Amino acid sequence: MSLTTAAPMQNRDDYLDAVTLIRTASAAYHTDGETPLDDATYDRLRQEVAAYERAHPGHVSAVSPTGKVAEGALAPGAVPHTVPMGSLHNVTTPNELSGWYAKLDPSRSRGLTVENKLDGVALVARYVNGRLVALLLRGNGRHGDDVSHAISNDIHGLPEQLAEPFTFEARGEVVFTFKQFERANTIRAQHGAKPFSSPRAAAAGTLRATNRLYRLEMTFFAYHAVALPLGTGKPLADVETQAELMEQVAAAGVQTTAATVHGLRVVATVAEAQRCVEQIEAERASLPYGIDGVVIKANSLVQQAAAGSDARAPLWAVAYKLAPAERVTKLLDVKWSIGRTGVLAPRAVLAEVELGGSMVSSATLHNPSDIGRLDLRLGDSVTVILAQDIIPRVLAPVVHLRPKAAEPIEMPTTCPVCGGGLDKSQERWRCAATAAGTTSCGLPAALLYAAGRDQLDIDGLGPSVISGLIGHGYVADIGDLFALNHDQLAQAAGGSTVLADKLAGQIEAAKARPLHQVLTSLGLIGTGREISERLADRFGSMSAVLAADTTALRAVDGIGAKKAALIAAQLPRTAKVVAKLAAAGVNLTGSASGSAGDTTTGGPLTGKSVVVTGTMSGSLAGFDRAGMRHLIKLAGGSPTESVSKKTGLLVVGQRAGSKVAKAEKLGVEQADEETFAALVRDYLEAALDAMAENRT
Ligand code: IVH
Repeated sequence: MSLTTAAPMQNRDDYLDAVTLIRTASAAYHTDGETPLDDATYDRLRQEVAAYERAHPGHVSAVSPTGKVAEGALAPGAVPHTVPMGSLHNVTTPNELSGWYAKLDPSRSRGLTVENKLDGVALVARYVNGRLVALLLRGNGRHGDDVSHAISNDIHGLPEQLAEPFTFEARGEVVFTFKQFERANTIRAQHGAKPFSSPRAAAAGTLRATNRLYRLEMTFFAYHAVALPLGTGKPLADVETQAELMEQVAAAGVQTTAATVHGLRVVATVAEAQRCVEQIEAERASLPYGIDGVVIKANSLVQQAAAGSDARAPLWAVAYKLAPAERVTKLLDVKWSIGRTGVLAPRAVLAEVELGGSMVSSATLHNPSDIGRLDLRLGDSVTVILAQDIIPRVLAPVVHLRPKAAEPIEMPTTCPVCGGGLDKSQERWRCAATAAGTTSCGLPAALLYAAGRDQLDIDGLGPSVISGLIGHGYVADIGDLFALNHDQLAQAAGGSTVLADKLAGQIEAAKARPLHQVLTSLGLIGTGREISERLADRFGSMSAVLAADTTALRAVDGIGAKKAALIAAQLPRTAKVVAKLAAAGVNLTGSASGSAGDTTTGGPLTGKSVVVTGTMSGSLAGFDRAGMRHLIKLAGGSPTESVSKKTGLLVVGQRAGSKVAKAEKLGVEQADEETFAALVRDYLEAALDAMAENRT
């Protein structure tokens, strides 16, 4: 049967094949973690099996995985769980989430917790008298395999010894962060071992491994805790809520999901929970670890007990599944180009798959040395993820699926653009002539970046027009874009006068972009959007930025000695381009907060420099950093990053950091979330709308 069709199963043979495949994949997943199916395919297959069983109740196989934890594939492990270890039921829409919520007893509500659903391996950690004595995998939910051999200092967040003699069981997820994963595959390559195909496979394999010659660092986040009936040591105190329970676990010294990027949030309503889900989804690609959803739980422990569990999972918690951001697909080819800074950039051509909700057929490979380190081959099945900036990235090959005919990838010996030599002296290979400033093989990428939404925002200036402009010799840098005439644009647009008209209008509009966007468009290394905003705020004009030395640059929030030197070294080179921009009448003055056109004079924060710390909850739930910056500007204030004597107000959210202590020391005024929300209440809706718009 085909795994790729979504058509319902037609006959019992197909159904039985699917049952076998699910059981095999599940057994592999629960043993060495290397499953032949990616999550999305697996989930769909499971749904198809369930649908077939509903339609043909007389055909249900005795070994059907439906309704069983671990799909019934495992023989019971050696150690019984104290309390059964369930899985989670899934929802995928706001309606389904509300449906789940409606079944909870409203009279006992203490709100809902919202946290990342970490994509790793479930692990039970037993502490007795403050000492970590056993580690168990979930197994079939009633019995789990003992992996206590993995107790070591290699699991970050899971100390072998607690400061106090607590006796309890922490339940949570072991993950490899993307950094840990990269390090792990490098170490494995050094030992001649095959790379792990995914962070989850790395976690499963590493927890089970007993005789490795090397050690790999992992990370643990607890999401639950249960009492141990052992009568020795100190139990966790009786509390009323999930959040308080997890606070105790964290206070005991075990890392919890409160320490993840989005923390463990408590919200009052299901609508707020939904907003958090949307925020987490929007920020997912920037997380340092993989998530496959968001977990929402009844916060009240009494409400949890009343809801109970079914055969598969608790009914007081639910997983809001997100579109898969990790898939396995075929690597068909590798193409080479030069990035905007002259770096040689491999790009993977892939068999098309759905990733994060859209179809993907190409992905970046980090850098050429990855190809050797991972021993990638053409024809390999590869794990692809959505990484920073929502760009798909090849993570690793799935080595056990490698076909015999897989071929090595040929590495370029010359620059794919100019044919000149490559500078291989650093990990990132560069076109030698571009690095020396004699050619600009990175120009297409630089122009594409300059045209981007956060920079000059020139809609229609895509790869083919850019290639036309460069091919005709009309454009040698960003400044030349503003000197193009209609005929030249039409030629580059393949003769389309309609597109040329549109481009001319867009380029004209781009002249009025705020200073920080023009600055970002120059593509200086170390000046992304945030830093450019701060540079614009600080210096107020392009000429003042160009005149800045390292001392002046260091006065900018977020620019240290290293970055100051890096930026200063690039400034002289930009003078020529900036002169062209000035001659064309491009805006080269104004501060980011002033020129964004969204700062209110006379607002409640007028003249105040406002710093935010922690994650927002309550009336501000769902506001991310960009959202808070926008809100502050709307209310007349200027958002800044660090607390100083000049700070007018510190907004304190959940899990606030060291900024609070600093504000106290300096006597800076502080506001909690609700106080701040009340202060800026007239601007909340507009800021939320703007945030939603930015995400579409
Ligand atoms: S709560 C009794 N919270 O997802 C508690 N699970 O698909 C039930 N998972 O088996 C689980 N992150 O291993 C919970 N923040 C989180 C989680 C989480 C990941 C895993 C967990 C569970 C699986 C179900």
